[in-house]
Formats: sequence, structure tokens, C-alpha cells
Amino acid sequence: MTGAEAIAMTERYQMGNYSRFPVTFVRGEGSWLYDDLGKAHLDFLGGIAVAVLGHAHPAVTRAIAEQAGRLVHVSNLFHVPVQARLGERLSAATTGGKVFFCNSGTEANEAAIKLVRRWAFDRGGEGRHGIVVLEGSFHGRTYGGLSATAQPKFHLGFEPMLPGFTTVPLGELDALEAALTDRVCAFFVETIQGESGVRMHPPGYLKEAEALCRKKGILLVADEIQTGMGRTGAFLSSGRFGIAPDVVTLAKGIANGLPLGAVVARDEVAAAFVPGTHGSTFGGNPVCCAAALAVMDVLCAPGFHEDVARKGERLQGGLREIAARRTDIRNVRGLGLMVGVEMTCETKPVAARCLDAGLVVNAAAGNVLRFLPPLTVTDGEIDRALEILSAVLPAEGRKS
Ligand SMILES: Cc1ncc(COP(=O)(O)O)c(C=O)c1O
Repeated sequence: MTGAEAIAMTERYQMGNYSRFPVTFVRGEGSWLYDDLGKAHLDFLGGIAVAVLGHAHPAVTRAIAEQAGRLVHVSNLFHVPVQARLGERLSAATTGGKVFFCNSGTEANEAAIKLVRRWAFDRGGEGRHGIVVLEGSFHGRTYGGLSATAQPKFHLGFEPMLPGFTTVPLGELDALEAALTDRVCAFFVETIQGESGVRMHPPGYLKEAEALCRKKGILLVADEIQTGMGRTGAFLSSGRFGIAPDVVTLAKGIANGLPLGAVVARDEVAAAFVPGTHGSTFGGNPVCCAAALAVMDVLCAPGFHEDVARKGERLQGGLREIAARRTDIRNVRGLGLMVGVEMTCETKPVAARCLDAGLVVNAAAGNVLRFLPPLTVTDGEIDRALEILSAVLPAEGRKS
């Protein structure tokens, strides 16, 4: 099948909910994607923070093949060694608590919403089902995740949302404190807001927010679906911001491209899930867990996170140098290998020009160019991406 045939067939037989670039990828290796014509593209989007170890990582491929040959699926009515091992590894790398496995980010947040409400209910908190979220948040597309997503454009035509969600402005601690009433069981927060343009909290905000939650006996839930799995130069970005959430949600890079999500909660919170409260047929699938164990082995190797932090600085440094020569870049921000470039113009056309020139990035929030390369990206690949970007940025934005 040619790329053009694939595009025509997708348009004819699939619903139109994605706005796709007219490119067909057929193969990947490391930080590179190859289209149907054999053209190489440097992948600085990584399937939107999914390909943490790059494409076709040998250890992941081997783990998938071995597990697929042994056992693909078994019901969660039984025990599975790879799932058991992954639970232990994730607990050790995060809150030290217990894990629930599902299949995606939105499912992880859905489970976390149920978990915190049930936790409050078990403690006699009748009516204490309120959840506070931040303006600009993105927590997923199912009704729970969507209700927690405080962006009206995603709600349009899908109302009514679930009751019990309150939105507060970004960075305003007084508003957060006022919203954390005795009707609230949890505060959900992305440590960096990815979908709304790599938006960072003001310094100290997350620590203060954590202190407010502690003071009021409200659970702090960190959605680390985009920021976790080593993305920011630590296994969880929470660590880099000095907070210890009660509940963490993970997905995206966890199995380097296979569908897996996880909720990790402190033991006392995790205890709210007893038989019958929640479940998933595919959650914790053995093949996905085997891939995730291979990912954990690489991520937990000595020096890995430090190297990601260093490469993130190289990328941000290079972007700042480009910004210094231009009038159309407002801001370069991010942490580790999660970086956003805020421009004075729409960035979708810029992303399209990058794609033409062989660099895959995406436009977030209209005017931000987002970089989420594999964590295994090399210095040379970072430099090449910077060269491509610099060459395709519009001539009119150059300082005279
Ligand atoms: C912070 C955050 N939460 C939740 C999700 C939803 O994850 P998924 O698309 O796997 O359902 C995303 C996806 O972009 C995300 O970035």
C-alpha cells in the first residue's frame, strides 16, 4: 500500500476526530522515523512523549517478542509474574505505595478520580466528592478525565460534565486555598501543563499547594502522564519540584508505545480499592508489562536521569540561542526533555515546515512549538534538530 492509498483509506473509513499531517510512517529506529518514500525524519515528538527509549529499542522488542510467545493475556482473576514485578518496580520508583494498572492516561485519571472519591467515602466523608483542578489542565477525554480538564473548548457539545469539579487559576495560591473546602477530597495537578503549551507553575507553587493539601487533609494527585517516566530528568517530575503526591498517574512512555497506564497511591489511599470497586479486562496486560519492565531497566540505570537533564539543557540552550536572533519567539521553557517554544504566531504552520524539512515536532495551545524527543536522543541529534528549526523559521522573524 502506498502512503497516498493509506491516507485515502483512513479518510474514507475512519472518523474525522484527528487532524493528521499528510505523511505515512512505516518504520522507526531510535530517534528516527521513516515514511513510505524512505525519507528519514528526526522524531522530536516521540508519539507525544511515548517513545521514551526511541523506536524499536532492542530490549523492548525482545521483551515483547518473548512475552508474546509465552502468554499474551490472562484475566486479572489470576496472578501474572511480569505484572507483579512491574508493580514492585513502579512502587519503588514512585510513592512506595500500591499500583492499579489500566490501558491509557485517561483511564489512569479515571481510576484516580474513583479512588480519591472512594477514599473520602470510606472515611465517612459523605458528600466530600469535590475535586479541584487548574485552569488549562488536560487530564483526558473520557467523562471523568474531561470533567477534570478545565478547558471549555474540549467540553463544547459534550456537556453536562460530571458534577463536583472546581477550577482555579494557575499560580494563584489564595484561590486554591479558598477552593480546598471540606467538600473536597483531592487536588489534581500536572506538574507542567503539557497540552496547554508546556506551562510551568511559578517557583514554589507546587510545594505551597502540597502544604495546603496536607493542612486540610486533602489528597494531592499528580498527573505525571506526560511529565513522568524520566521525561524531566527524574523518574517523576514531582521529585524535581520537591513534592511527594499521595497519588500519581502514569501512562504514555511507561511501555514505550504499548498501551499501559498506572495509578500509584500511598498504601492508605490504595486501600480504598477493594474487590468490585474498579477493574479492567486488559489492564496490566502481560506483553505491555514486559515492555514496561524493559523500559524500567533502562530508566533506572545509573546516570540516566542526569543525562536527560543535561540533554534538556543542551536543547533549551540551543533554542535560546535561536530565540536571541529572532523577534517572533517569546519564551523558551520546560524541564529536561519536555520543552516548549512560545512564538508570536500560530505554530502549526511552523510544525508543518519542520516536518517537510525532516523534523517532527508539534504545535500545542496554538502558539507553542513542543519538543518531546526520545530520552535516548543523542547530542548530535539535538544539534541537527536545532539546525533544521533554525533553517525553517520564517525569514520575517529574524532580527535585522
Ligand atoms: C497530562 C495528561 N493527562 C492525561 C492524558 C490522556 O492520556 P491518553 O491520551 O493516554 O488517554 C494526557 C495526554 O496527552 C496528558 O498529557
